Formats: sequence, C-alpha cells, structure tokens
Amino acid sequence: MPAVQDQTGLDPIRLERLSADENARFVGEHPRSIELSERARRSMPRGVPMAWMEDFYEHPPVWIERGEGAFFTDVDGHTYLDMYVADMSGFCGHAPTPVVEAVARRMRTGNQFLLPTEDAIAVAEHLSRRYGLPKWQFTLSATQANTEVIRLARQATGREVVLMFDGKYLGHGDATLVVLEEEGYALEEQGLPRSVTGQSRIVQFNDVPALEEALVPRDVALVLTEPAITNAGVILPEPGFHEALRRLTSETGTVLAIDETHTLVAAHGGLTAEYGLQPDTLTIGKSIAAGVPLGAYGMTEEIAALIAPPEEHWLVMGQAVQEVALGGTLFGNALSMAAGRSALEEVLTPEAFEHARAMGARMADGVDAAIGTAGLPWSVVRMGPHAYYTFSSAPARDAVEYRAADDPDLRALMRVFMANRGVWESGWWLGPTVSVAHTPEDVDRYVEVFAEFLGEAV
Ligand SMILES: Cc1ncc(COP(=O)(O)O)c(C=O)c1O
Repeated sequence: MPAVQDQTGLDPIRLERLSADENARFVGEHPRSIELSERARRSMPRGVPMAWMEDFYEHPPVWIERGEGAFFTDVDGHTYLDMYVADMSGFCGHAPTPVVEAVARRMRTGNQFLLPTEDAIAVAEHLSRRYGLPKWQFTLSATQANTEVIRLARQATGREVVLMFDGKYLGHGDATLVVLEEEGYALEEQGLPRSVTGQSRIVQFNDVPALEEALVPRDVALVLTEPAITNAGVILPEPGFHEALRRLTSETGTVLAIDETHTLVAAHGGLTAEYGLQPDTLTIGKSIAAGVPLGAYGMTEEIAALIAPPEEHWLVMGQAVQEVALGGTLFGNALSMAAGRSALEEVLTPEAFEHARAMGARMADGVDAAIGTAGLPWSVVRMGPHAYYTFSSAPARDAVEYRAADDPDLRALMRVFMANRGVWESGWWLGPTVSVAHTPEDVDRYVEVFAEFLGEAV
C-alpha cells in the first residue's frame, strides 16, 4: 500500500502522474476525432450536436463510425468494449438484427403519417402485460413522458408540487431540474423559471419520516422516482421503503409515478415486477426501441380517464380548451413503434434478461475480487446488469452518503485509462453495465482492465 493515501485508499501523487500520462496518450491516439471536434466547433456550440456529448467527458469526445453488438468503433479506428451502453439506451446491443430489419421495412413503406399504425397496439398490449399497467401513451423520450406524467398528476390532484428524492435524475423537464442545497432549493441548471423551485420538494431516499412530513401538507401532486436510484451511483431501497411510499402516497391522495427508464434493464418486468410495486404511472424509454427514439408511460384506468376529448374541440388557435396538454407531431410515429415492437418482442426477451443478469453478476464478482486483491476499502453494488463500484466500504443509503464517497477525478482517470485499452467505461452515475449482447469473454476483459488499473494505481 502507498505511504500517502486519500480517502479512496490510493496515492494522490501517483494518480496525478498517471492522469497526465493517460490523457496525453488519449489525445495522441485520436487525431481524427480531435480534427472533427475542431471543425465542429465552427458550426455547433462546444463542437457537439448536443451538449452532454462533451459534458460527460474530461477527455475530448470521440467521434463514432459504427457499432455492433457489445462494441463500437471510432473514426480513428479504435474499437471499444461498450460498458456504458449509451446510458442504458444501448441495452439491446448495437444494431440488433431484428430491429435493423423492422426499421428498414418500415422506412421502405413510409414512417410518419401523424396517424396510428397497428404496431402501436402490439406495443401497448405488450407493455401492459410486461409492466402490469393497463393503458399506455407514447412520446419520443423519457423526459417528455415524465413531463406528461407530471401534467396528468397535476390534473388528477389539483396540486402542483413534484416530490423527488435527492440524487435523482428524471429528465430535462423544468420541474425535475431542481436540487436541494444547504441554503434550500436551487435551479439545477440555468435558463429555467426561478418559480419552478417553489413547485418541487426533495427528501432523502430511504427516509420514511422525511417523506411522510413532506406529504402531510397534501399539496404534492406526485412522487416521481426511480425504484432504485441509478443517477447517484446505485442506491437500493431498504426493506419496507417501497411499502411505506405506496401507503403514504395513497393516504395523502398523491400520485405515485415510478420511472423505470434506467432500471428497466434490471429485469424483464423492471424493478416494478421484481419488487412487486403498484405505481399509478410508470415511465420507460431509452432502450425500449433499441435506441430509436421512443418514450412511453403506463397508467391506471383512473389516470387514463383524464385523457378524454375536450367538450369543445379546437376550432381555432388561441382559444383555451379543457384538455390535458399532451402530444407532439412525431410522438407515436410509425418508425418508433415498429422499432419498439421488434425490440420488445425479439430482443428484450426473458432469456435476454436472464443472460444480462448472469453477466452482471459475473462482472460484480470479478470487480469485487480485484478490489479485494488490491486491498482497497471499496464495495460493489449489484443490480441486474450493473456492477456499481463505490470508493467506500459500505454502499450509500442516500445521495448525501453517495456524494461524500465519490471522487470525480478518480472516475475520470479510470475512464481515460480504460479507453486507452479499448474499454468504454460507464458514466459516473451508475457503474459498468452489460447489454444483452455481452459475452462472458467481454465481461472478463472488462474485469482484467479494471484490475490492471488498480495494479497501476495502488
Ligand atoms: C430515470 C431517468 N428518467 C428519465 C431520463 C430522461 O431520459 P431522456 O434523456 O431519454 O429523455 C433519464 C435519463 O438518464 C433517467 O435516468
């Protein structure tokens, strides 16, 4: 063990040297990506089509040429084992054959009519069976699905406040971009109406008394939460937490909205089926159409009754109508529904989930063993295809503990070290994740590179 250790058990001076070497190597080996970024900065802010593509990385972003199964290849010819799976939207693996064929078929026969195709019925029926909620509506992203869920909950309750748990990420809608700081509620980013902080309430995950106190005023329209938090590491619910959440929301007339956008990869029916949850609404997105844009939310018959035609139809624009504000021109389009049908029926099968779960367990075992060999005080949280390693001996119970244990500089160094060895590490918020296409050899390769890093860093 090193003479000087930081709270992660590693030697900060050695890490600094390693970081300089690995970042220099990365830049040196990606000339074409760097060239494209320079050109891109002339036509796109920060040189990317969407800010996160630059936000998420301390090293320059790589530009991608193609992907297949568990791998993708950049414009400099480097092929990466994908352990990030595009923040869950790549859980079907890259270019899964049934979806490629379904999408090609649909494009040949027309993809957008602003009218329904039969695939939508097949998808809605499938989702009802899989997640247990009877009625479904479709958007193009989970953010848009949550935006509609919030509107429906407000309409159902006549209340405005959205209650969330610290450490959440629930999409880029205004109401969900509020954070709890020491001085009180703050806008998570800029460009949002300041008034939105007054419409949000945040408590710690797993804290039942705080949840109860927050619901008592009966001004909360909905509790919107992931069943396990996956955007601040992986924080699992403690025994009894979900039972208390359902009981308290029912007692106070609050809508319970579960967001399975990330966690749906954990089990065939998501954590909703796994934990036996009974939400009023359920949001999904990202991987359900193999990354072709599709968001969806399921709802009870009671909530569905709110999606009723207005008494007076729109006759002219500029006139208020009695209808919940839902929809978008491309929502429910024929291409997304064809991709969704194929992904759900042919790729995201019960057997595929079993496989991904077994690969996730193999990875967690390997990462755990490597940590043990290195003698570090770290731990691993297991959840289906994820193996979230945390720089503390006990997994976090809430976001406060998560933030205290995390070390962004160390994660950034691990990411660039792995990228230089052909492994695309996950984002810091949920740990390495396999897709349905990963094999035991892929998992073992990840563990090998993880162990190699510890060997260099300790
Ligand atoms: C739990 C959860 N909900 C919603 C979203 C938003 O998804 P999208 O960016 O596809 O709208 C995310 C994205 O990470 C998420 O993790």
